[in-house]
Amino acid sequence: MGQLISKNKFKGGNSMSILIKRKRFFILSLLMALVLMVSIIPTVQAATTLADGTYEINVKVFKTGTTEDSLSKNSVTEKAKLIISEGNIQAQVAFKNTSLQDITVGGTLATVVSTEGEWTTYQFTISNENETVPVSVRVIAMGMVQVIDIAFQGSTANLIQEPVNETPIEEEPVNETPVEEEPVNETPVGEEPVNETPVEETTNTEGTEKVISPKTADDFNTLLPLSILISMIALYSVVKRLKIQQ
Ligand code: HEM
Repeated sequence: MGQLISKNKFKGGNSMSILIKRKRFFILSLLMALVLMVSIIPTVQAATTLADGTYEINVKVFKTGTTEDSLSKNSVTEKAKLIISEGNIQAQVAFKNTSLQDITVGGTLATVVSTEGEWTTYQFTISNENETVPVSVRVIAMGMVQVIDIAFQGSTANLIQEPVNETPIEEEPVNETPVEEEPVNETPVGEEPVNETPVEETTNTEGTEKVISPKTADDFNTLLPLSILISMIALYSVVKRLKIQQ
């Protein structure tokens, strides 16, 4: 009998300690989740130290994985543009288009922004003004894809255009478009405004891209406090239950 009682006592004590351990583990996981979420905020927002605006920046073109000048050095302009909006960076780099088919960055085809003579400007996203970005160039003459490292020289970044005034100015022409469409009905004379519309569309496209990218950052910032709040409530209820049980 004595042996049975002592065994039961042992079993009871064991299950109690497992329960306590589980609760401790639960509280610890909640705390860790909180710390993790809070620590993510500075990582995401500290991607760039530059304020919003358009910058001119020097780039170097290296052989992939090295700091040696690439053979294609003269096919890339030394000055590039960075368009920064709420921490999101769009880089615009001009490449000699003779024999160049396309450019891929991070598995995504870079967008063609403009072409002037034998230079075509491509746009792609980078995360930092000091980043070295592997860029795949499909060269028709070479019949193959080559990879180069484009190293952005953050210390040379020079603000050339303020950001805030851009968006409202670009939004206004959208309202003007229908007004300009009216002369098109007047037959041959309307040819001129028809030509004007695509030009405006290009500016609007740039504007849209700028607006789209910051949205991601906004979404992140709104979700985070909410998830922290939920975690805090969960933590509070667990602590309260523990106190009641004790
Ligand atoms: C008539 C045009 C061109 C010819 C005949 C040519 C020829 C060559 C040759 C022979 C190599 C060495 C390949 C090897 O060692 O395996 C090379 C490498 C390379 N080429 Fe071209 N190429 C041409 C145009 C271009 C253009 C327009 C670009 C880029 C915009 C380019 C980018 C590269 C790159 C990135 C390399 C790898 C070596 C490095 O980065 O220095 N090439 N090319």
